[in-house]
Amino acid sequence: MKKPKLYITRRVPEEVIAPYREYFTVDMWHKEEEPVPREILLREVSDSQAIICMLSDKMDKEVFGTGKTLQVVANLAVGYDNIDLKEAAKARVVVTNTPGVLTESTADLGFALLLASARRIVEANQYIKADKWKNWSPYLLAGNDVHGKTIGIVGMGRIGEAIARRAKGFGMDILYHNRSRKEEAEKRIGATYVSFTKLLEKADFVISVVPATEETKHMFNLEAFRKMKQTAVFVNISRGSVVDESALLEAIEAKEVAAVGLDVFAEEPINSEHPLLNKTNVVCLPHIGSASVETRTKMLQLCLDNVKSVHQGKGAITEVKQ
Ligand code: DGY
Repeated sequence: MKKPKLYITRRVPEEVIAPYREYFTVDMWHKEEEPVPREILLREVSDSQAIICMLSDKMDKEVFGTGKTLQVVANLAVGYDNIDLKEAAKARVVVTNTPGVLTESTADLGFALLLASARRIVEANQYIKADKWKNWSPYLLAGNDVHGKTIGIVGMGRIGEAIARRAKGFGMDILYHNRSRKEEAEKRIGATYVSFTKLLEKADFVISVVPATEETKHMFNLEAFRKMKQTAVFVNISRGSVVDESALLEAIEAKEVAAVGLDVFAEEPINSEHPLLNKTNVVCLPHIGSASVETRTKMLQLCLDNVKSVHQGKGAITEVKQ
């Protein structure tokens, strides 16, 4: 019997794919760092049963309309704002994501960004490499303490909770805001539920871990930044769309916030001329939240297990409910 075709939109390690070749004819875009061109994606989708796609691939009406044989799309990410779920449902395509396996790595990165922004790690690294370190002085590159401060976590899902555990280790008070109260999580980690406004007003560190939805679009706007303490550090590891970037720039210039750490942007990759890249108190990363070799491999394996399970008629393991 002819094996179903699985197309992967980026080059990924053969040793991860190899065990699945007995179930699928696997084809993939040959470049690791560049996305598949749209016309090739559409051509490949037209005769594939399964696709493993990246968060940078727009899986929209055109894709689902072209994929007449398509049964499952596995997104190599926990976020799935790149996928039009309504169109997938219309085309009866199962959509999966990668929750769970990336929780701890993403929380590690969130905390690293928080520490780096607060303690001016990147600026200090640039300073020494530019041969500017001529003297030790008491307030040279002095930043903000993290330990013992108040963190405000916006979005108390798996990653939010993992960040809270790290914050606890730093002796921080933990405030959180979420669509609904998470009483179990409160007991586990000793976090306090507060309104969004109260969180902004009280937290020394505000970290965004909310998914990108219509409801969360630009929730970090000028009004939100103005409510934060002027000494506050703002970190975003969710999606760029939750931040109004012009408002953030205005807030940085008006010194409404002290430092910022961003792993995600409204437009990715960010334009090299973007004014956020020129601010010394803004640490920018190229969307690497879950980017450890171990975690990216687990995410890929979960995608492969999902498409295999769907094809064996057992249903998806981590289906995105549409
Ligand atoms: C995700 O999985 O959504 C992350 O943003 C990837 O790093």
